[in-house]
Amino acid sequence: MIKNKFILISGAAGFLGRNLCYLFSKYDYNLICLDNNNLKLKILKNKLKNKKNKKYYFSVDITDEKNVIKIYEKLRKNNCIIDIIINNAANNLPVKKTKSPKLMNIDSWKRDLDVGLLGAYILTKTFSESMRANKSGSIINIGSDLSILSPNHEIYKSRHKSYLKPISYSVIKHGLSGMNKYFATLYAKDKIISNMISPGPIDYKIPSYLRKKLISNTPMKKLCSIEEVFKAILFFCDTNNRHITGQNIIIDGGKSLI
Ligand SMILES: NC(=O)c1ccc[n+]([C@@H]2O[C@H](COP(=O)([O-])OP(=O)(O)OC[C@H]3O[C@@H](n4cnc5c(N)ncnc54)[C@H](O)[C@@H]3O)[C@@H](O)[C@H]2O)c1
Repeated sequence: MIKNKFILISGAAGFLGRNLCYLFSKYDYNLICLDNNNLKLKILKNKLKNKKNKKYYFSVDITDEKNVIKIYEKLRKNNCIIDIIINNAANNLPVKKTKSPKLMNIDSWKRDLDVGLLGAYILTKTFSESMRANKSGSIINIGSDLSILSPNHEIYKSRHKSYLKPISYSVIKHGLSGMNKYFATLYAKDKIISNMISPGPIDYKIPSYLRKKLISNTPMKKLCSIEEVFKAILFFCDTNNRHITGQNIIIDGGKSLI
């Protein structure tokens, strides 16, 4: 039964994370919620307070290995063993207007890669230990259609002529795809699967000029929904007899095919 298992999710208080937490809670799945935004984590805790599933909340920077290990030890003492890791956190900074398109500065590159790649590595390395001992587990990496494609620079810059999708985003998602395959083969003998779920843009608060352009470039003429992402994640939460590992499931309505 997946429901008795514990699902750890990083970036739990962000847009996708909190929506996944609502859906997991609705269906009584147990959760470990990690985020470095204490305020947003408190809001999540408050929203989920009447749900019956077991929940633990940790305000932590996932790039800080010592603190991640402390959480792992604390959970172990409480007999709470993680069965599923969802690497979801991202350092998404608000878009700044500039006069001309600008490649990002080195500090931003480093911080983005630290959260998206190093953070995912630290969580996987730490929490897969008990999965290996149990000979069962699932690692789910949240990618994006930009894990296999380049951003279409023309589409992104149409309103703010100077906007460039940060290069770090492409580098992280392509890197995560490599990490996904690495852990899939490394831990296959331990009956741990590792897969990537790669949504196209999720239909929420996308500026209308961009939404229109994205939809017109999508064969199914709609954007990705949270429920669609949730269903794909649930599939990989069930590790029973799974023979699918190292895969990258693209949820983009066919956009990457044309
Ligand atoms: N929103 C979309 O349309 C979309 C589409 C495809 C893929 N994705 C992917 O989904 C994931 C979540 O995206 P989102 O839109 O919810 O972003 P978001 O910015 O709303 O959420 C990211 C969360 O990660 C947290 N975080 C950042 N740095 C952290 C750190 N060092 N330690 C712990 N937590 C940290 C933030 O506080 C935030 O709550 C990302 O990996 C993103 O690439 C999103």
